[in-house]
Amino acid sequence: MSIEIIKVTINGQLFEVPKGARLIDVCREKGFDIPSFCYYADLALQASCRMCLVRIEKMPKLQTSCTVICTDGMVVTTQSEEIEKAQRGMTEFLLANHPLDCPVCDRGGECELQELTFDWGGLEERFTEKKNYYPEKYLSPMVANDPQRCILCKRCTRVCDEWMGEDAIEAGGRGANTVIGTYLGWLDCSQCGNCIEVCPTGTLLDATYRHQARPWELAQTISTCTYCSDGCQMSLGARAGELMRIVARDRYVNGLNGEFLCVKGRFGHPFVNHEERIRTPLIRYKKSGKLIPATWDQAIRHVAQRLDAIANDHGRNAVAIVGSPRLTNEALYSLQKFALELVGTQNYAAADAFSLKPFFDNLASPLANHRDIRHAKTILLIGGEPEELQPLTGKQIRQAVRNGGAKLIIVNSVPIRLREQSSQFVHIRPGTEDAVVLALADQTKDSFAAQKAGIDSSELDAARELIANTNGDLVVMFGGELSAQAQAVLAQSPFVLAGVGGRVLLHPLPLFNNSIGAHDMGLMDGPMTATEMLDAAGNTIRAMYVAGSFLPLHLQGREEALGNLDFLVVQELFESETTRFAEVVLPAASFAEIDGTFTNNDGMVQRVRQSIPPVHQAKADWVITAELARELGVDFGFQMSASAVFREIEARVPAYAGLRYPLLKDESSPVQAKHAISERRDITPEINALRQSVEAMTESGEKFGVTPKVGHELFKIGNLTDKVPQFHLLAAGNPRPETVRISPLYQITIDGKVRETVAGD
Ligand code: SF4
Ligand code: SF4
Ligand code: SF4
Ligand code: FES
Repeated sequence: MSIEIIKVTINGQLFEVPKGARLIDVCREKGFDIPSFCYYADLALQASCRMCLVRIEKMPKLQTSCTVICTDGMVVTTQSEEIEKAQRGMTEFLLANHPLDCPVCDRGGECELQELTFDWGGLEERFTEKKNYYPEKYLSPMVANDPQRCILCKRCTRVCDEWMGEDAIEAGGRGANTVIGTYLGWLDCSQCGNCIEVCPTGTLLDATYRHQARPWELAQTISTCTYCSDGCQMSLGARAGELMRIVARDRYVNGLNGEFLCVKGRFGHPFVNHEERIRTPLIRYKKSGKLIPATWDQAIRHVAQRLDAIANDHGRNAVAIVGSPRLTNEALYSLQKFALELVGTQNYAAADAFSLKPFFDNLASPLANHRDIRHAKTILLIGGEPEELQPLTGKQIRQAVRNGGAKLIIVNSVPIRLREQSSQFVHIRPGTEDAVVLALADQTKDSFAAQKAGIDSSELDAARELIANTNGDLVVMFGGELSAQAQAVLAQSPFVLAGVGGRVLLHPLPLFNNSIGAHDMGLMDGPMTATEMLDAAGNTIRAMYVAGSFLPLHLQGREEALGNLDFLVVQELFESETTRFAEVVLPAASFAEIDGTFTNNDGMVQRVRQSIPPVHQAKADWVITAELARELGVDFGFQMSASAVFREIEARVPAYAGLRYPLLKDESSPVQAKHAISERRDITPEINALRQSVEAMTESGEKFGVTPKVGHELFKIGNLTDKVPQFHLLAAGNPRPETVRISPLYQITIDGKVRETVAGD
């Protein structure tokens, strides 16, 4: 579709702009600064602050540029005495009740209201009346609130509603007494903190960092989130070796997530400087003895000797190498290289919840990026729960529907929260996602698949019709519920669903920040899964080298498996269920202490950058692996440089060919790995295998009837969030504390339990 171009004159200069463009966006894009408070790109218009005033020829009064769509021949003035006078007048009103307490405000130094006022200088304040006063308070363990600083721009209420679908925060009261608040005075929401991020003033504040540092004291480093697979870009604010806070504020970072972060990305970082970090290498000299601190030289020598001896005695394949999908590509690549080139074992694996190998082996179209999702016209979501497990994807889906008019089809056994935005919810029996994939690939199986899934086959027809009527891109997403054959069939679905008026793009929903990287680095190519390795521990597998930890789901029912090994070495941040039986534990550096890359669920390869020096004696995972290799007589040639590791990845991993750190330096233009796109192939064997597995499904499973509570996955305590006290409050049901004037964190009993009593403000 060709875009019509029109001509607009701004401050005497003629520009060609696309028809339909918004005047405020055009002026800013062309380099003319327009102040604004309530306008926020990609949110519904508010048009209340009247700061974005411009003069448009032939219009009688000054106009708000956020509400004006450019027309051909429009002549605009953005700066004049008349405009500045009007804007100064508006600011005077905005400050009428403002306490002007910048020196004690956490937002001071990065406040949009402060900046604008300082830019002009000499702002008059003619009001002499007593200002409104409201006490400072907490709205939740994460969100603090100083109501009198509010300018009622309602960015917060709109992001809560449009991005999060939660509507947890609203304006209450009337006229000059209007304040932003919550229902019942306590935020029972996903605690994303996006309302804090977009607030242009110091009204909503990060309660976990309150009064701890001034923004100008923090060194800002742009990096990638270490939690889920969405790969949000963020700015790590550090002072004197301590990671103080994380923001996505676009003055610092401008990534695929804009200013969005979820509760984990924004508030889940205190594990980095936590006192329980493993400080030195540790060696257990006697089985069931204690781990004793050692030097790096001792520990590396010990590990090398033990691995070498076991490989010699029991064969190379008796040594297994396992990498966590939380590690960087550089770390995972080094592990794979260590397994293949040094130990010579075929037994290597990623400790992930599921493998995406069948999907990538059959990939028929590029991965949908987050922008594609936001602008898709139809989204088909099979399984998964992005609003809890990949919150940025959840936000993009919600906005595609609410702001972009997309149709959302959800196939799930649970009525997940996103269902509220769906055009069609196909409520299947648990574990029957494969049946729907079979029907999508082969319409003749509709009634059979419907019977297994516990739905009416007309529901499959309705979904097909919605897909067929798509006027734009269709994005197909799936969670970890699909079997290998269903993944393969779905990966080829662009051929089956092609011709719907746009592209058919695919978007997997893996769980971890570098699940895709773990696949790309080859950690999922081995013959055994992480679970199978645990089952073989003490039999065919005699030694393991684990970077990171196994997941609880791997160890469930196999709690003692690691104890059967002759030798276990683990590199980790904290002691865990995996280190429990380790003979050697090596202190690994966290994402904030290292350079590297993660690959997100769009296939975007994004930089991880060092914000603080390694804590205690920690080392980057790939450095540890390279040191072990050197002790065993092989120099990996990485020369202590993560970029050298990445150069080797570029040379050896086809999907990363042509990528270099300098190419990845701009987070606003992320670079997608070039995963091989396969030709249309005969997937009859996979369809037959899928049919057989669907045939074997029982028809007795009960569908879940209740929509899960917000946070039921997000607030779950994991190895990292365990070190963040606020997450324990959230996991305990986010009880309203006795008073909202004091941080809820200080209102717990001495034994660390949350108080039961719930009292008013
Ligand atoms: S923290 Fe997130 S969900 Fe809660 S009120 Fe703020 S924007 Fe809404
Ligand atoms: S709390 Fe902040 S974002 Fe919300 S209306 Fe007030 S100033 Fe705007
Ligand atoms: S959505 Fe995922 S990547 Fe983004 S901040 Fe949350 S956990 Fe991190
Ligand atoms: S930015 Fe246009 S009215 Fe607020």
